[in-house]
Amino acid sequence: MELSIVLLLAVLTGLLLLLARGHPKAHGRLPPGPRPLPFLGNILQMDRRGLLKSFLRLREKYGDVFTVYLGPKPVVMLCGIDAIREALVDQAEAFSGRGKISSVERIFHGYGVIFANGERWKLLRRFSLSTMRNFGMGKRSIEERIQEESRCVVEELRKTQGAFQNPTFLFHSMTANIICSIVFGKRFSYKDPKFQRLLDLFYRTFTLISSFSSQVFELFYTFLKYFPGTHRQIYKNAQEIMTFIEDAVEKHRETLDPSAPQDFIDAYLIRADKEKSDPHSEFDHRNLICTVLSLFFAGTETTSTTLRYGFLIMLKYPHITERVHKEIDQVIGPHRLPALDDRAKMPYTDAVIHEIQRFSDLLPIGLPHMVTKDTHFRGYFMPKGTEVFPILHSALSDPHDFENPAAFNPDHFLDASGALKKNDAFIPFSMGKRICLGEGIARMELFLFFTTILQNFSVTSPVAPEDIDLTPQESGIGRVPPVYQISFQSRRGD
Ligand code: HEM
Repeated sequence: MELSIVLLLAVLTGLLLLLARGHPKAHGRLPPGPRPLPFLGNILQMDRRGLLKSFLRLREKYGDVFTVYLGPKPVVMLCGIDAIREALVDQAEAFSGRGKISSVERIFHGYGVIFANGERWKLLRRFSLSTMRNFGMGKRSIEERIQEESRCVVEELRKTQGAFQNPTFLFHSMTANIICSIVFGKRFSYKDPKFQRLLDLFYRTFTLISSFSSQVFELFYTFLKYFPGTHRQIYKNAQEIMTFIEDAVEKHRETLDPSAPQDFIDAYLIRADKEKSDPHSEFDHRNLICTVLSLFFAGTETTSTTLRYGFLIMLKYPHITERVHKEIDQVIGPHRLPALDDRAKMPYTDAVIHEIQRFSDLLPIGLPHMVTKDTHFRGYFMPKGTEVFPILHSALSDPHDFENPAAFNPDHFLDASGALKKNDAFIPFSMGKRICLGEGIARMELFLFFTTILQNFSVTSPVAPEDIDLTPQESGIGRVPPVYQISFQSRRGD
């Protein structure tokens, strides 16, 4: 009797394990990984310090390519520049699908350029790239827009007269205004209460998406989605942002002149009108709202968070800031605005900006991908639809490519003669067909905002440099630097 109970339990346990792993044929021979528990997946292997730490520990045991069950869902992890390149570049089409981020799934539902797949994604990506080029992404005019915004920032900072402040809001405002000028055709005053509310919502939402509870949600989405939690607040915030976008779209409809589109929304409305008799057109209202939301999210938080990290690093290492000041003074001087052409003559500043991006490691586990067809990779088999995380952190912190990855050191990007040294493992924008759509604009913003601010101001902290802690406040999908105070003091004594 006892034996039959034991046997029954053994069979049941076996069946549950099979269920959790999925049928072998259904999942093919996925890369190795820890054995999952039924429904709970690899919860026992997860580190309290978050997903990234968990994945890095598993890499030590299973190598550069391994499978982790996030709840019942298998996800293939790619670590190191070689594995990431072999997948995202050498098999670009197969790895170009977008996987899910559970905490925003209810908002986007596969609409908009970041979360779309298949033909919808191809059309939206092509349209977004070419339209943004026409309305400002073309090198010259976007440079002018950023210069104009830099001027406003300098004016705003002068008004503070060196008082200590949290720079979050200002950095958000200036990066958001670049996207606003392309998408809405206008920039906002930093004092505009509607704009302030919008930016506050973006900041809160990015912090929530990067929080520990969102990582737990990622593991138990199927169960936790029915309960209150961070995901509901994220959804609520996104609804408010979407209402703002809806209002702007309505105003655009009223003033649209099809012969003279003024911005991204106008261009979209014209395209939608051209395709209105096609019932399968992807240029519908939902894709417009979700694409604008995507551009805002991807284009505001990312660059401003990088700058915020960058200035915290400058406070911690005043000798590095000093060398940047010196190079700015030699190449640009105090009287004219920095321009993109200056970059080639400023290898030290360029190396510092590269190192800020490497060290701040904004999206350490990348954005989730998905294989678009049955795919063979390094002797394994991933059925169509398998999710894949390119762990960008593993490339950006590889000791083979960066001498001391845990330290902030601009020499990581300088050769012996002081010239800028390219490094193939530097992939903060990812690679392949899903590579960041705003890479060009982000790189321009980082250079022009960073140099214009340091051309005009020296920076100080109320905390002694050796006591400044660079540990991120949140580290999940995104890494958020700690909140800090900074004083911008005019370098010209005015
Ligand atoms: C420092 C700034 C930025 C960083 C580090 C960054 C990084 C990234 C990364 C890692 C991805 C995911 C790529 C992948 O799926 O493998 C991405 C996607 C994306 N980024 Fe950025 N980004 C930045 C700024 C921007 C800006 C300024 C814009 C808009 C103008 C933008 C728009 C997008 C869009 C639309 C996608 C989705 C592309 C797609 O799915 O086809 N990003 N970005």
